[in-house]
Amino acid sequence: MKGFRAVIMAAGKGTRLKSELPKVLHPLFGKPLLMRVLDTLSGVQAEEACVIIGHGREQVTAALAAYETNFPLRTVVQEPQLGTGHALQQVRQQLEDWAGFMGNVLILSGDVPLLTAKSLEHLLQAHQTEGNDLTLLAATMQNPFGYGRVITEGRSVARIVEQKDATEAEKQVQLINTGIYCLNWAKISPLLDQLSNNNAQGEFYLTDVIALAVKAGYQVGSAHLDDPDEVLGVNSRADLALCHDILNRRTLNRLMGDGVTILHPASTFIGPEVSIGPDTTVLPGCYLQGEVTIGKRCTIGPHTTMSGSVFIEDDVKVMQSSVRDTRIGSVCNIGPFAQLRDGVDINHHVNIGNFVEVKKARIDHHTNAAHLAYLGDATLGTDVNIGAGTITANYDPIRDIKEQTVIEDGAKIGSNSVLIAPVTVGQNASVAAGSVITKNVKPWDLAIARGRQVEIPGWVKRVKGLSEPAPQN
Ligand code: UD1
Ligand code: CA
Repeated sequence: MKGFRAVIMAAGKGTRLKSELPKVLHPLFGKPLLMRVLDTLSGVQAEEACVIIGHGREQVTAALAAYETNFPLRTVVQEPQLGTGHALQQVRQQLEDWAGFMGNVLILSGDVPLLTAKSLEHLLQAHQTEGNDLTLLAATMQNPFGYGRVITEGRSVARIVEQKDATEAEKQVQLINTGIYCLNWAKISPLLDQLSNNNAQGEFYLTDVIALAVKAGYQVGSAHLDDPDEVLGVNSRADLALCHDILNRRTLNRLMGDGVTILHPASTFIGPEVSIGPDTTVLPGCYLQGEVTIGKRCTIGPHTTMSGSVFIEDDVKVMQSSVRDTRIGSVCNIGPFAQLRDGVDINHHVNIGNFVEVKKARIDHHTNAAHLAYLGDATLGTDVNIGAGTITANYDPIRDIKEQTVIEDGAKIGSNSVLIAPVTVGQNASVAAGSVITKNVKPWDLAIARGRQVEIPGWVKRVKGLSEPAPQN
């Protein structure tokens, strides 16, 4: 369908979450519910969209400003929040340029994050082919508690009754209102003026528009959604957990279908933005979210987390490690117990071993930091060896600035060395173990920066009285 606009209702408080964060900003795999709805909308090409904001609107506005959509986005403020019908009244009252709009408007809720673009397409298509003035998206739920029930007369939709207003007989109805509609704006929006708040919640229900439209003689229909999981609304922390679980299962099934081995789905958590190449194995206890791309034949986990923007090439092993905003070339070994974060770029055949933290660093191929090191704000060449316990001291706490360390190709850093940045260790240079390096080291030189070893012959024997006292002089 072409030329339609969209409204996303996102002004509610989400009382049942008992949270300081507005409900629609609660994340699922790192992305707020509202942004997941916007992503879905991106798949059906709305002409423009309007988000109704209210509760916590400074936070919601800031989040929207930082988010890119492929359609123009504007906001309307609903204050106070007197219900979903009242929310839509604000669009009618505040957007003057919508008054003459003759097309259709798709209504979405910001708290229904699992909906797919395919289902929206299904709704739009039904609306168009049936020539409806209003089409609601309905689903059949085994446990419909909490949802508005779709009451039919014969084969036609007659009205919607909310859980709190339903009679015992109406509560038995399993056909639920998903809260997603497509409507002819010019015909249906004037009916919003007739809504009343004479109901159990004292709210202006958008759902009452259905009966009003039927009464006015408009053609009202419904599209049925096969998978009711898609329209789970998040009203409580338990709902959030359920959505997380369903979204996870959906992603794991996709990945397994693509040839990824996931040995224990019940303990593996992967966000929908993650892509993984075939013959990669994800071991139990992994939590991968964000813009993560992993190549072929990798082994990830057990117990590994990834977030932010992560790109991993083929044949890489990452074991029991934390990886954020990092790029890793092919045939690298990471971990166990490594942390890579905030702008790390590692070339191929690199080993980062246990208890090594790498932050904002570039590491060229065939370089090793196998144990117990901190490499921050650093550039390492190829074929470098970092001894156990090496620290790049990048932070000057007096001036509160970070400085750079450069370790050029072929350089070897002895164990337990501290490289005080800014400093450069030249090509093929060697730093003796235990050194504190404060000045640049030239290529091919050996730098020793520690107290010289002193030996006192026979000192132990003397202390223990096993030999003559040392001669006095
Ligand atoms: C709503 C529907 C219900 C449907 C269910 C599906 C109504 C009256 N009921 O119930 O039939 O089964 O969704 O998930 O519409 N909002 C505002 N302003 C407000 C109130 C709410 O913008 O004044 C927003 C909320 O932020 C939320 C959405 O509208 O994103 C739905 O509101 P919510 O209170 O969660 O409605 P439900 O009780 O779930
Ligand atoms: Ca809801």
